[in-house]
Amino acid sequence: MKHAIVTGAGGDIGACITELAVSRGYRVVAVDVRPNQIDALAYRLDGVVPIVADITDPDSVKKAFDVFDSPLDLLVNNAGLVRFGPLESLAVKDFQDVVNVNLVGSFIVAREAAVRMKATGGGAIVNVTSMGGIHPAPGGGAYGASKAGLAQMTELMSVEWGPYGIRVNAVAPGFIDAGMSAPFFKDEAVREKRTGGVPLGRLGTAADVAQTVLYLGSEEATYITGQEIVIDGGVINSVLAQLPRD
Ligand SMILES: NC(=O)c1ccc[n+]([C@@H]2O[C@H](COP(=O)([O-])OP(=O)(O)OC[C@H]3O[C@@H](n4cnc5c(N)ncnc54)[C@H](O)[C@@H]3O)[C@@H](O)[C@H]2O)c1
Repeated sequence: MKHAIVTGAGGDIGACITELAVSRGYRVVAVDVRPNQIDALAYRLDGVVPIVADITDPDSVKKAFDVFDSPLDLLVNNAGLVRFGPLESLAVKDFQDVVNVNLVGSFIVAREAAVRMKATGGGAIVNVTSMGGIHPAPGGGAYGASKAGLAQMTELMSVEWGPYGIRVNAVAPGFIDAGMSAPFFKDEAVREKRTGGVPLGRLGTAADVAQTVLYLGSEEATYITGQEIVIDGGVINSVLAQLPRD
């Protein structure tokens, strides 16, 4: 039996990662600040333990790590927050909240995992970043900067923790038809426009993200560390293709 912690498991992508992990033989600690969502997940899936914890609070995070006696095989740092607005009028508090969850919170959880994984001979960490951390999305506020920071932290963690047998990678989802992007894609016009910009011709799903996360955590990826895999159907490579030609 393998053991995993998934943060933000109350959201669409985190729930999908949790479900896929269970189907692949993991027992999962599902962490979120929203109790109802993770309780429902634990009710539906055998082998899921819901823990209400705020990833920005180191003491609260420790609770999640104390659930299993067994070594931790996989941490998925998936909890995330977005606050939209143009930079010139963005509230400083919104900027701070986003950086605090996406970057500082992910660091707090990853460090706790690393200390424990080091003591037990290693493990895998997957940080969920974003296409928005690679190319700027107007109106995205601090979100892109926080995810770019997490991508850089992923590289640093892989270097510092590699000698302990800990692999650290990231996945950068693009236009995903779930979770925090679901409200946009309810608008048919937005949906059509965005889908038109995807070379593979469809929006991504939570399952697209979950499968890549589980792959990076698996024994099929034991020589991969410090990488950010973009899951975007080709969007970020299509900038020149989107520009007018004449
Ligand atoms: N949906 C997308 O289009 C998309 C695209 C790129 C990246 N992502 C990333 O994927 C991850 C999952 O997003 P989602 O789309 O499922 O969104 P979501 O809003 O459905 O899920 C995010 C979850 O994180 C939890 N969370 C927020 N702050 C927390 C904290 N301090 N402590 C513990 N839990 C906290 C929320 O309660 C929520 O359940 C995020 O990191 C997000 O940035 C999503």
